[in-house]
This record gives sequence, C-alpha cells and structure tokens, in this order.
Amino acid sequence: MSFVKNAWYVAGWAPSEDVRLFSRTILGKSIVFFRKTNDQWSAIENVCPHRFAPLDKGKVVGDTLQCGYHGLRFDEHGICVHNPIGNGRIPKAAKVDSYPVIEKYKLIWVWTGDKEAADPAKIPDYSILEDEGWVHATGGYLHCNANYQLLIDNLLDLSHVAFLHPLLGNEGMSGGKLDLQETDTTIQSNFFMAEIDSPPFYAPRYKEGSKVDNWLNMKWHAPSSLLLDFGVTDVGKSRDVGLQGIATHILTPETDGTVHYFYSVGWPTEEDAAANVEQHHEMQGKIFSTEDKPMLEECQKNMGTTDLWDLNPVLLSGDAAAVRARRFIGRMLAQEAIEP
Ligand code: FES
Ligand SMILES: [Fe+2]
Repeated sequence: MSFVKNAWYVAGWAPSEDVRLFSRTILGKSIVFFRKTNDQWSAIENVCPHRFAPLDKGKVVGDTLQCGYHGLRFDEHGICVHNPIGNGRIPKAAKVDSYPVIEKYKLIWVWTGDKEAADPAKIPDYSILEDEGWVHATGGYLHCNANYQLLIDNLLDLSHVAFLHPLLGNEGMSGGKLDLQETDTTIQSNFFMAEIDSPPFYAPRYKEGSKVDNWLNMKWHAPSSLLLDFGVTDVGKSRDVGLQGIATHILTPETDGTVHYFYSVGWPTEEDAAANVEQHHEMQGKIFSTEDKPMLEECQKNMGTTDLWDLNPVLLSGDAAAVRARRFIGRMLAQEAIEP
C-alpha cells in the first residue's frame, strides 16, 4: 500500500455530543476515536496490545478508553494508564499508537504521518460549511470498492457528467472548456459549458432544457479533499444572477482497494433551493451510489491491482487535472519515501 501519510484525512462528519466513541480504518489501520471529558477527540490504534481486542468494543472512562476484554485503560497518547488486574503494575509494552485529531468545519480530521508535522493550518479550507450565508446538508457517507485515486480521477474529470449523470448533465456539455491552475497544495479545475440545455437538477429555477451557461469548478486539495463550486446562469450573464451551489467531496483511503467518501451539498441561504437542500443531498447520494460507484468498482475490477500507468491508459483532454493530481501525489509519495 502506498499512501501519503503526512496529511489530514477526514475520519467522519462530527457526530452529536452524545457520541463518544467510533472507529474507522484509514490507510489500512483501524483507528478508534473517543471523546475526553472536555469533549475533545483522541485517536489511538484500535487494537489492544494484550490479546488484540478491538478497543472500539470498550468504553470511555473519564479521559481514557477502557478495553472491553480485560479492562486496561489507555489515554489520548495510547499509553496504558490503568491495569485493573492483580497488583495493577503496568507493563512498559502496554501502549498503542496515537494520532493527532481535530474537529474542524463539522468534520473530524486525523493526521496519519509524522506527529511533529501535524500543523492544523494545513487542514484544507472547508470554512464554507460554517458560513451562515449558506445552508448545507452534511453527513453524506459512502463506501466504494476502488482505490481512492480512481475517485479523484472521477471528480477531477467532470466530462463524465455528460454521459453518466442524466440528472446533472447532458451530451451538450462535452464541448466544455477547461481551465487549470495549480498551487503548491491545490489544483483548481474550472469546467465551463456555454449555452447548453439546463440539466434537470437545476429545476424549477431553470426549466429543464432552457439554455444556460453551466460551470463546474472543482478544487482538489492534496492529497484527497475536493470542493465543487457549481451552477447555472442565464446565457452570457454573470454567475451572480444564476443558481450557485457548493458540494464537498472528501476521500479517505481505507485500504488500497477501498475508500471512504464524505459528501455534502449546499445553497445560499436566500435561494429557494436552500429549502430543498435535504432533497438535493439525497439525490447526490443516489447519483453517486447508483451511477459513479458501480462504474468505479467495475473499472477497478478490470484494472485489478495494476497501477493505472502500467496499463498504458488512453489520455483525453478532460483528464488533464486528474493526471496532474496523480503526478502531484506521486511527488508527495517520493518525498515521503526519502524522508527519514
Ligand atoms: S485484550 Fe485488552 S485488556 Fe485484554
Ligand atoms: Fe460523477
């Protein structure tokens, strides 16, 4: 498995306060997340070093997590701080890995690499999820049996919308223009389609089939967090007079061949669409689970475990952003491979 380790990954949407414990496999490691008495999250390896019980079958006791099998208690650093058995002596080896974890933008972010480098300022900017000018339906989660880079390809090459998603697009989109910008942490892929038939998703504000300009501006933040600014407007008019939405698409590799996908959709508070945001969120989940997911899983099956480049894929102009992201990830992996 080759993953970028020095990165913040989303472990989940922040749950309500009564949820004190959950687990998630990230980069092939099972991690258990538990809340301390001050409500801050801790993240430690989800395997007890005694008889290897999953710690998520235990319970939170004060600021520690108690193993559900023989009761060892571990603190936020993964150190065993209490042994209820016999004389209570704590063996030196009674410890597990711990991970920096932060709740931010309604999401729980975990750092999987060198702890010293875990700078909260490196968390991708999803502040729009907390912007009062927007109404977001959050909490979307799907699991997909494909490598996370196939999902990045999918999200950065939105030429597929014209063919795979009848609710979101139509073949008139395939003449769209692509504009790319890259920084040292992001790739911005702006896809603009002039004067196309409005896709059904934008009804009733824009009647299906009426002529519109449509934009799909995807920002990829290395290694796998994406944010889509999308919408339609009257032909030739500025975006301000149109209907603009925001969708988050955040990927966290589970294993080499599986990925967690966290999504949301939002509209400006004053838009009529904001009243139907939950309905759009449901639609978003249905589109991904019935259209993208089966296609991606079939692609992965056909590829097996062979790397994309070793299969000599045909390249199309719509791939440009996805290819850049793959190269970007390749550079990050190479960098981590040479670091001590
Ligand atoms: S397996 Fe955890 S205390 Fe025994
Ligand atoms: Fe899609």
